[in-house]
Amino acid sequence: MDYALELKRQVARVERGIDQHVPAAATRPGRLHTAMRYSLEAGGKRIRPVLALTAAELFGPADDSALPAAVAIECVHTYSLIHDDLPCMDNDDLRRGRPTAHKAFDEATALLAGDALLTHGFGLVAEAYAGQPVLAHGLMRELAAAAGSRRLVGGQMEDLLAEKKANATADELEFIHLNKTAAMIEAALVMGGLVGLATRSRPIDAGNVEIQALRNLGRHLGLAFQIMDDVLDATADTATLGKTAGKDALADKTTYVKLYGLDAARRMAREHTASALAALATLPGPKDFLHALVTAMAERKS
Ligand code: IPE
Ligand code: IPE
Ligand code: MG
Ligand code: MG
Ligand code: MG
Repeated sequence: MDYALELKRQVARVERGIDQHVPAAATRPGRLHTAMRYSLEAGGKRIRPVLALTAAELFGPADDSALPAAVAIECVHTYSLIHDDLPCMDNDDLRRGRPTAHKAFDEATALLAGDALLTHGFGLVAEAYAGQPVLAHGLMRELAAAAGSRRLVGGQMEDLLAEKKANATADELEFIHLNKTAAMIEAALVMGGLVGLATRSRPIDAGNVEIQALRNLGRHLGLAFQIMDDVLDATADTATLGKTAGKDALADKTTYVKLYGLDAARRMAREHTASALAALATLPGPKDFLHALVTAMAERKS
C-alpha cells in the first residue's frame, strides 16, 4: 500500500462527494451558497471524511455507500471552523490558506454559511439514507451527539471560558480537547463503521464491539490530533499551517503546550497515538491505510 497515493485517492473521492452533495454556488441566495462552498472547497486535510470512508471499508469492499455521511461530517466540521474563526470567538483572518469566511464575505454571511452547513449535514444524512431508516437514525444520532452542546459546542464553550485562566486544570483541558475535537473524529469513524456494517446487513446496535473499538480509536486519535494542533500553533509557521500561527499564546488559551510544555505535549500525543493503534489492531479488515494515517497524524507538519 502506497500511503501517499491512497490518501490522495481518498481525498479526491471526498472532493467529488462534496461537489455532488452540496448545493451549487449559484443556488439562490447565491451569496450564501457561494460562501458555503468558499469555505468547504478551500481544501483542508479532509481527515474526518477520509476516516469515515476507510472505517466503512473495514467491513467490506469499497463502494460509495459512506460518501454522503463523509460529506455530512465535513459540512459540520467546516461550519465549526467558520464559527471558530469569527471575531467573537478566535478572531482569525486566515483559514485553509485563504481569508476566513467573515473576511472574504462579512460576519453575517459567515454566520449564516456556518448555520446552513450544519443544517445541510443533517439533511444530507436524512436524504441519502432514507431507504435504510435504522441506519439513518443511527447516523443522525451519532452526528447530533458529537456536534451538540455536550460535545463539540460544549468543548468550544469551555475553550473560551478557559482563556486567560491562570489556574486551568488538566481535567478542564481534557474536557476541551475530548469535546471540541475528538468528538467529531470519533463520530467520523463510528458513522463510517455504521454504514459499513449496515451495508453488509450486520446489526448496528451501540453495544457492537467493533463500533466500541472505532469509538476508542477515535477518542485517542482525536486527543493526539488536538495536542498536535496545539504544538503546531506554537511551533509551525503561518504559511505551512494555512492559518495564523501563534494564536493560542496570544489569546492565552488553555492548551497542552501551556499546561505541560512542548516536550510533554509531544510525548502525550505519541501515547494517544499508541493507544489509537492498539484499538485499531482489534478491528477486522484491511488496516494498513488507517495504521499509516493514524501514525502520520502524530507526525504532521500542518
Ligand atoms: C482544525 O481541524 C480544527 C481542529 C479541530 C484542530 P483540521 O486541522 O482538521 O482542519 P482542516 O479541515 O484540515 O482545515
Ligand atoms: C477548534 O480548535 C476546534 C473546532 C473548530 C471545533 P482551535 O481553535 O484550536 O482550531 P484552529 O487552530 O483554529 O483550527
Ligand atoms: Mg478555537
Ligand atoms: Mg481557532
Ligand atoms: Mg488550534
